[in-house]
Amino acid sequence: MEIYNNHKRLFVAALALFLALTMFAAILPGFNIQNDNAPLPKSKPLSTEEMQGKAIFISEGCIACHTQQVRNVEMDKMWGSRPSIAADYARLTRTDVWRNTASLMGSERTGPDLTSIGSRQPSKDWHLLHLYNPRSVVSQSIMPSYQWLFEEKEYAYPGDVVLNVPDEFRKGVQGKIVASQDALHLVAYLQSLKQTDLPDGKPVPIFLYPKGPVKEEPAGTTSQLNTELDGAALYAVNCQSCHQANGEGLKGAFPSLKGSPVVLDKDPKVQVTIIMEGYNGRVSEGYGLMPPIGTTNNLKPEEIVAIINHERSSWGNNSRKVSITEIKELFNQIKTPVIAKK
Ligand code: HEC
Ligand code: HEC
Repeated sequence: MEIYNNHKRLFVAALALFLALTMFAAILPGFNIQNDNAPLPKSKPLSTEEMQGKAIFISEGCIACHTQQVRNVEMDKMWGSRPSIAADYARLTRTDVWRNTASLMGSERTGPDLTSIGSRQPSKDWHLLHLYNPRSVVSQSIMPSYQWLFEEKEYAYPGDVVLNVPDEFRKGVQGKIVASQDALHLVAYLQSLKQTDLPDGKPVPIFLYPKGPVKEEPAGTTSQLNTELDGAALYAVNCQSCHQANGEGLKGAFPSLKGSPVVLDKDPKVQVTIIMEGYNGRVSEGYGLMPPIGTTNNLKPEEIVAIINHERSSWGNNSRKVSITEIKELFNQIKTPVIAKK
């Protein structure tokens, strides 16, 4: 063939083939990967405070027990609304010239995954109490206390963030227990951990290996679920971390729901509003803010009914049960829930 006798043609043909292959095997896939792994449009870079908090997270070794990755398996569904993707980690950069990128995805899950802890637990007061002594809010917790992130002071100065630690956890501390800057930064970092929504149109990865086939309801029957959700279980997931399993809350930090006039009120309006919009009516009594748990946790009217009825009939409370119709009406009135300021 002519081409084998003409060295110029041979070279040009080989070069063209090489460039074409490079294009398809390296350059185009490269663009694709770069595009897929770009930070999600709705994600935000960490603020300076949150960055400092991340450094505390690293230096305190929280990674030993906590992951920050939602795997695409059914059992991880409780930690996020979707499995994590590479783009979720695209904002991580080198710590500094000397230290590599700390991805903090973790591999040990002695404690819960923290991918969306900022949505699951938005309360700063809760996080501070939990870091000071995890047992003060979660009685069975095996997480270590991080008391060196707090100072004992005789008086609180303006601007100090004072913790309302229940007496049994004060261990003889007479003065005020004040959060250090490190503790505040760490909590700011924890509050920033939220899963970012994918842009519209981007395929959402699914959780694999669901347990058992999804039950199909025969047409015409109304689902039992809507009327008989398990209020105790929903309370445990959404409210118990602060108001505790016995409904008595924590003295000075979270008010008791046992005997609470709000809970016993025949009219559930205030109760629904508190769940959806949060509450600060008792700040002057030393209680912190209640975040708008119903809004951040996306509670549906059916779930709110179940929770309210659980509270109204537990711990010695005995008040009228509420109906789905009245709660739906109240729910629709609270159309634009205000996210509480932190
Ligand atoms: C020895 C293991 C261990 C270490 C180290 C540890 N934790 Fe935990 N953590 C746990 C366990 C177990 C729980 C679940 C019980 C509880 O809520 O206290 C938990 C719960 C949490 C929760 C609440 C999660 C939720 O879904 O309610 C947060 C937030 C948290 N840890 C943050 C931290 C931070 C920040 C550090 C480092 C300063 C840390 N943890 C270090 C074991 C650990
Ligand atoms: C992060 C902690 C936290 C969580 C979670 C939480 N609350 Fe609260 N709640 C509070 C605090 C703090 C207050 C007091 C707020 C204030 O007025 O200062 C409060 C107040 C209340 C009150 C008013 C009680 C009274 O007598 O004044 C009700 C009712 C209530 N919460 C119900 C709920 C329900 C229902 C849930 C779950 C859906 C829930 N809370 C989840 C922290 C929390």
